[in-house]
Formats: sequence, C-alpha cells, structure tokens
Amino acid sequence: MSAVTDTFVRTLHTADLTPGLRGAIRRLLDGAFAGHADGDFTDADWDHTLGGLHTLVLEGDEPIGHSAVVQRRLLHGGRALRAGYVEAVAVRADRRRRGHGATVMAAAERIIRGSYDLGALGSSDEATGFYAARGWQVWAGRTSALTPGGILPTPDVDGWIHVLPVAAIDLGGELTCDWRDGDVW
Ligand SMILES: CC(C)(COP(=O)(O)OP(=O)(O)OC[C@H]1O[C@@H](n2cnc3c(N)ncnc32)[C@H](O)[C@@H]1OP(=O)(O)O)[C@@H](O)C(=O)NCCC(=O)NCCS
Repeated sequence: MSAVTDTFVRTLHTADLTPGLRGAIRRLLDGAFAGHADGDFTDADWDHTLGGLHTLVLEGDEPIGHSAVVQRRLLHGGRALRAGYVEAVAVRADRRRRGHGATVMAAAERIIRGSYDLGALGSSDEATGFYAARGWQVWAGRTSALTPGGILPTPDVDGWIHVLPVAAIDLGGELTCDWRDGDVW
C-alpha cells in the first residue's frame, strides 16, 4: 500500500514568502531545471521570478509545484500593454503528470484574466505542448526588446513566445518587451 500525501495550493506575493519558503522555491526551481535543454535556472531567472504573485503546490511545507506572474510592459500596436508575464513554471520531477502543472497554470491564468491586457511567457522546448493544450498561442509576428540602445529584434525567441490574449490583439504584429538583465523574454 502506498501512502497518499495531501497537497494544497497557495498564492502568495513575494513579500509574504518566509525566508524558508523562498529558499525552498529556489531549490525546487534549481532541481526542476537542472540539465534542462534550455539551461539551468540562473540567478537572473530567479530575479525575474520575484516581485509578483507565486502559486505553490505544497506537500506540507515543501513546494513541489510553482508558477509566478510578474507585471511587464509589452509594446504592441503603439500601446504599452500591461502584461502578466509567467515565470518559473515547474513541478518536481518525481511529481510530474499528476496535474500539478495544470494547477499552478490555472492560478496564473486567473490572475492574468482578472488583471492584465494579456498573458505572455517564453516556453521551453519541452513545455510547448503543455501550454498549447491550455489555450496559449504562439506569437506569430516578430519579437523585439526595448534595450538601452533602442528597439532590437529578438529572432532567437521567435516561435517560443506564447500569449494568452485577454483584450483583442493582432498575433501577427510586432511585440516588444521591456528591458531586463539575463534573458529579456
Ligand atoms: C512542464 C511541467 C511544469 C508540467 O508539469 P506537470 O505537473 O507534469 O503537468 P500536468 O500533469 O499538469 O500536465 C497536464 C497536461 O499537460 C500536458 N503536458 C504536461 N507535460 C507535458 C509535456 N512535457 N509535453 C507535452 N504535454 C505535456 C499533458 O496533456 C498533461 O495531461 P496528461 O498527463 O493527462 O497527458 C513539468 O514537466 C516541468 O516542471 N518541466 C520542467 C521545467 C519546465 O520545462 N518548465 C516550463 C518552463 S517554460
């Protein structure tokens, strides 16, 4: 007979994470992305994860699933759209395919639909099917970034940026993200 561990779901702002929980989330993300085709989880990735709302699947005090929604500005069609940008979606390797990824994404999508003009994220190779099954759409147009040196194209991510439209949007147009250290998208 195998023991069934109860899980529960919490959505918390970064400011409300205890130091212990914050450290446990970072360890979850380091482990979930270790050896990942897109590279390990970096300090810059962690920086991008902070400052918004985290949704956690917890087994006791231990997070086994995580998503974050942070606000960014995405320029599109002459407007600076308020975007809920999804970061650090991960489930511990030994807890995958049990619906925890869907749980943390459903919470992120509720936040996006209730607060933002659109949702956006940069998908890893292995997760495109996961996002597509949830209704996220690949950005079909060009992407670029508003860098300190002006707007520069980001062709490396074309085909990997997924959006969840809330307001009407032209998926074939140009989408420009605001600037940050590390991966800009
Ligand atoms: C992507 C990830 C978060 C999915 O978590 P999960 O808990 O396994 O996902 P779920 O069990 O909720 O899956 C729900 C559905 O999504 C789809 N899905 C999940 N993982 C998938 C994958 N790797 N490829 C294609 N479809 C996938 C399936 O339809 C699945 O339903 P099913 O199991 O009934 O077939 C997890 O595999 C992970 O942490 N990967 C490593 C980190 C990563 O790449 N994160 C994404 C960064 S952009």
